[in-house]
Amino acid sequence: MAQSAITPHCSRPDGLFLLLFSLCVLCREESHAGRILVYPVDGSHWLNMNVLLVELHQRGHALTVIRSSTSWYIPEKAPHFTSVTVPLISASSLEDPEYMANFLQRNLDLRQGSVLSFIDLHREILSMIFQAHQSSAQMVRLILENSTLVEELKWTNFDLMLTDPGFAGGVVLGHYLRLPMVFNVRWITNADGHFAIAPSPLSYVPTMGSQVSDRMSFANKLKNLLHYGIGVYIDLVVTRPLYQGVCEEFLGPDTNVYKLIQGADLWLMRVDFVFEFPRPTMPNVVYVGGFQCRPAQPLPPELEEFVQSSGEHGVLLMSLGTLLGGLQPHISEVIASAFARLPQKVVWRHLGARPSTLGNNTLLLDWLPQNDLLGHPKTRAFVTHGGTNGLYEAIYHGVPVLGLPLIFDQMDNMVRMEARGAGIVLDVTTLDVDSLTQALQDVLDEQKPYKENMHRLSRLHHDRPLKPLDSAIFWMEFVMRHRGAAHLRTESYRMPWYAYHNLDVLALLLGSATAVLLLIGATCRCLFQRLCRKRKVKMQ
Ligand SMILES: *[C@@H]1O[C@H](CO)[C@@H](O)[C@H](O)[C@H]1NC(C)=O
Ligand SMILES: *[C@@H]1O[C@H](CO)[C@@H](O)[C@H](O)[C@H]1NC(C)=O
Repeated sequence: MAQSAITPHCSRPDGLFLLLFSLCVLCREESHAGRILVYPVDGSHWLNMNVLLVELHQRGHALTVIRSSTSWYIPEKAPHFTSVTVPLISASSLEDPEYMANFLQRNLDLRQGSVLSFIDLHREILSMIFQAHQSSAQMVRLILENSTLVEELKWTNFDLMLTDPGFAGGVVLGHYLRLPMVFNVRWITNADGHFAIAPSPLSYVPTMGSQVSDRMSFANKLKNLLHYGIGVYIDLVVTRPLYQGVCEEFLGPDTNVYKLIQGADLWLMRVDFVFEFPRPTMPNVVYVGGFQCRPAQPLPPELEEFVQSSGEHGVLLMSLGTLLGGLQPHISEVIASAFARLPQKVVWRHLGARPSTLGNNTLLLDWLPQNDLLGHPKTRAFVTHGGTNGLYEAIYHGVPVLGLPLIFDQMDNMVRMEARGAGIVLDVTTLDVDSLTQALQDVLDEQKPYKENMHRLSRLHHDRPLKPLDSAIFWMEFVMRHRGAAHLRTESYRMPWYAYHNLDVLALLLGSATAVLLLIGATCRCLFQRLCRKRKVKMQ
């Protein structure tokens, strides 16, 4: 009976063919869609990670996001991903808005230039870095200690780990699950990501925090070296030890978090050389700076009306980013007074008390569609804290900037904008109404080079074969198709440091040369002494 039930199908080759064909089609469709495990960093880093996730979801990939229960920005539920929530007890300070506002306050107070305040400032920053990494290490430990969760993750058979190595929890988990790993990165645990894998001569490659450009005076080089030292210190004394416990317990004794970072398959670097200074790089680095930017959408009607009311003078936009709360009231007053003197209309993302000197040309909002405003034809200039997301949006839309950098990489970013002639930088702790007004007028002045320089950067940024977002997606799919990209990655990071710098070879050569010289010297002395003795004998 059973046989006769099967035979009709087998005897019809066209049916079988159809079945096989549709299976093949299914298989092929299947192989395009991957399962991606995402381990993001919270705060402004999440904003651009999410742009990648939305795009990956649209292209049919299934995403699982790992977040902590204290997460500030990363939602538990979203239409484009499922999430796993790890129950952290205390939030990392970076995920605590109140802490960040206080931190900024103390930071600005300490920025008065003496050596002692420099040390205090860095001690403060170090303690925050310490806390944040501690909580990242604690979170990945919670995951790895939960065998139910680990089994689930293993069983899902992910094709890729997408993570931001600013904090290394995702890197540890990715290696543990043996997944091909792609970074969405600019900073790693202690430095610019390039420093972990590419040669980085300190004579022309600025380090994080150094605030120098690629044209360094002797003093600048000293400063650059000092900040490189701080980075090494953070790696060796702060971050490596914090992750060492979990690395040794779950990955074996011969590894450390820095090596794990160096072992990633592909680096999607949030950098464009329109903005960053040229430097040596590696084959597994793909530059996707500005991938989060997109054309402007129409503004909400009331905002559009306000913007249109600016007439020929246009609009000035001000926003100091997502991570930090309001500025001190006296700084806000200075800024409000300077704005009131301008003929432009001003849209200001402002948190905190309303400044008393606010002009009637200024609109305060606690949130604003920054990208859409930057892309609006009436927008003339952008006052920013110098965060990377905002600066790339300004480059994308060709809007010159006035930077009021506060902390982190913001000063370094503004050094780059200033070096390109596309912006002016002011120190927020020494602002006064006159100099701020002057700087605003300069950035807005079409006779000055800022606008033209920014337009040039914008043209260069757009002139490329593949948009940064498409490039990012292509390379992630590439890594999934080939189960990694080890052929693009140099294994040099596994060498001991003396071998990396060829010191073993140099030592041998120097040693041999010295030995030969010593030998020659000794022979000469011997001959000379013998000669002297002979002569003495003759004289006698
Ligand atoms: C372990 O993970 C599972 C599955 O995600 C979760 O239901 C459970 O609450 C976790 N256990 C602990 C102790 O966190
Ligand atoms: C705004 O203020 C300026 C001077 O401060 C004044 O001349 C102007 O009439 C005011 N405009 C409106 C619409 O109130």
